[in-house]
Amino acid sequence: MYEIPLIKPVITDALKERVTQVLDSGYLTEGPVTREFEQRIAGFCGAARCLAVTSCTTGLELALRALGIGPGHEVIVPDYTYPATASVVNIVGATAVIVDVDPDTMLMDSDALEAAVTERTRAVIPVSLFGNPLDWKRLNEIRQRHGLYMVEDAACALGSSFDGIMTGALADISVFSHHPRKFITTGEGGTVTTNNTEWAEWMHSYKHFGMGAATSRAGSQFSRIGTNYKMSNLLAAVGLEQMGMVNDLLAERRRLADVYREKLDGADGISLPAITPDGEHSWQTFCVFVPERDRVMADMRAAGIEVQIGTFSLHMHEAFADNPLCRIEGDMSGSIRAYNEALALPLYHGMTEAEQDKVLETLKKVL
Ligand SMILES: Cc1ncc(COP(=O)(O)O)c(C=O)c1O
Repeated sequence: MYEIPLIKPVITDALKERVTQVLDSGYLTEGPVTREFEQRIAGFCGAARCLAVTSCTTGLELALRALGIGPGHEVIVPDYTYPATASVVNIVGATAVIVDVDPDTMLMDSDALEAAVTERTRAVIPVSLFGNPLDWKRLNEIRQRHGLYMVEDAACALGSSFDGIMTGALADISVFSHHPRKFITTGEGGTVTTNNTEWAEWMHSYKHFGMGAATSRAGSQFSRIGTNYKMSNLLAAVGLEQMGMVNDLLAERRRLADVYREKLDGADGISLPAITPDGEHSWQTFCVFVPERDRVMADMRAAGIEVQIGTFSLHMHEAFADNPLCRIEGDMSGSIRAYNEALALPLYHGMTEAEQDKVLETLKKVL
């Protein structure tokens, strides 16, 4: 246990009460609470449809399947991301083409992305990493020029926006994570948003064992092979209660991030990642770049402060480096910099000024 943790899930008495109500109802599987959670996410993002699933990872897989992506196709992903972004491409049988990220934003490098397009490319999975929105002006140009689908890995980006449009309504299909590192959490879980009704219907069927549109058990037709990626009422109740606070939670994250940025700007040995111009960050993770990151991380942890690396460089891992269904393009210098230097600092609901000051003082002392 750390004196100052990296994150703290938002668990209120009202949330516990809502979960108790679901338990008392006896209706524990996916049902009306899940539908309400989906509607809240769709409404918040301004997307026509939302489907709750078991994780962002299964949601990304569902999205690729809905788009008909499979063997013989290529999907471009960034190197600096959580492994799930690329794994799902292989899970549906397609080839993951892994490209570098911009060293300042840590987001997929648009030039590297465009250079990697071939006649087999069907889709791109850009990642709005840590809540920093993607540059959709540039991505839309590439989408149109090459006729590609954009499936956003928005695991970290609920609440961010680009040019006034919320993440969740920008890509063909967007997928959020509700893992406890995310501020709207269902323990494990994800949501998929899209404006395309046909894809939404297909995904709904696939995650319900392939069931057709008829809803009653007796009348059900199984129109395809499907699976079970449903989210239970119980987990949806947790996320739904938090969605009632979403704007306040976001405002608090932005305030805390502003304090960090103001106090760290120009500090010796520290540089700050760039925010996408015309974008609003949701600060799922607050990262700084520091030299000797591993030593700094160890010293801060020893001082009672839970800090963490940003995320992973996929090309350094056997699962991707030694894989006939992966193609690694470029020298990955942006990704390597992020992997070596990014340090995630604590940021959570209810973080006090004293706690944030302690993080700042310790970081400066350790450096
Ligand atoms: C960028 C990114 N994509 C995908 C995932 C996987 O999310 P989940 O745990 O909901 O499957 C994560 C998890 O942290 C992530 O950071």
